[in-house]
Amino acid sequence: MNALTGMKNAVVGPPLWLLAEVTYRCPLHCVFCYNPVDYARHEDELSTEDWLRTLREARALGAVQCGFSGGEPLLRDDLELLVAEAHRLGYYTNLLTSGVGLTEARCAALKAAGLDHIQLSFQDSSREVNDFLSRTKTLALKQRVGEMLRAQGWPMVMNVVMHRLNIDHIDRIIAMAHELGAEYLELANSQYYSWALENRGHLMPSTEQLKRAEAVTDEWRRKLDGQMKLFFVAPDYHEARPKKCMNGWGNVFLTITPDGTALPCHTARMLPGLSFPNVRSQDVKSIWYDSEGFNAYRGTGWMKEPCASCEKKEEDLGGCRCQAYMLAQDAAAADPVCAKSPSHGVVQAAVAAANAGEVPARPLVFRGRAESLARSGGG
Ligand code: FES
Repeated sequence: MNALTGMKNAVVGPPLWLLAEVTYRCPLHCVFCYNPVDYARHEDELSTEDWLRTLREARALGAVQCGFSGGEPLLRDDLELLVAEAHRLGYYTNLLTSGVGLTEARCAALKAAGLDHIQLSFQDSSREVNDFLSRTKTLALKQRVGEMLRAQGWPMVMNVVMHRLNIDHIDRIIAMAHELGAEYLELANSQYYSWALENRGHLMPSTEQLKRAEAVTDEWRRKLDGQMKLFFVAPDYHEARPKKCMNGWGNVFLTITPDGTALPCHTARMLPGLSFPNVRSQDVKSIWYDSEGFNAYRGTGWMKEPCASCEKKEEDLGGCRCQAYMLAQDAAAADPVCAKSPSHGVVQAAVAAANAGEVPARPLVFRGRAESLARSGGG
């Protein structure tokens, strides 16, 4: 593909969000993990110096928010150093964590480093499901971490990935968040990428389950009357219109993977025929503005039918490129979630199977190094 093809009509602003995926290492083994299935082939992590330089270059370009995620970012010993530099540079800083490894001492160090915001993830309200889904015994630990965060004066922000195995517990999940003093709770239904795509047949809720969950969430909104903000994010398979993925390709988000590869989204590296640069060998400015990978699907110039003549094309930008590749084997196709996509039947079939209560014979696949290597020709 010509690197400039996608740029037609695109006005390119700076990356506003820097997502620093500082490690793929993680003590959890979540069945819906969004890290690439072949993550074990990309474990060579950037040095502290490389991260510090990347933070500076992205900030100079105009990035204002910096999210530290993983894997589990607390597994990097230099996390406090990176947060302190991001804070000094003027970023609004955010840590996305399972809480595993967060001691009172590290909490205090991250607070002193200027960390603005922590989002703590849970798998479920019950010990059995939480521990089963992550293959760890972490529920009690997460509850203690929640108390530590509040003691440091951070707002209590929780995230629970929702799916068929926990969606019927939503009432108890919201109650638990309320008991922990959460100010924000994101109930984000699993989107079907990476490990969640591997496990889609197990994880996709039925339309009925979704409706009930939304009704329960609305009921809590009324009951809590603004004391806790509840965000319910529906799975896009159940919609007829695609999402404007990442708010547009190469538009707002710049993801740096643990090995320094710069991507427009977490999973873009799997798209065939595209190369993505690395911050070890290229500066962030030329990566963002000049690289083939970042320009490939900017704007609308790359579109073909039915997107090219669609009156909604500026609103959704054709949906998600990774989903188009995964479900229609063509990254330049309309996102199959869209009812106009010739491949929409694939999405409808998956929803129909969930509505019929079909469960695959193949067991759930837990995220793990051996499983990753086995799925990427490495073991
Ligand atoms: Fe890659 Fe949507 S996740 S473009």
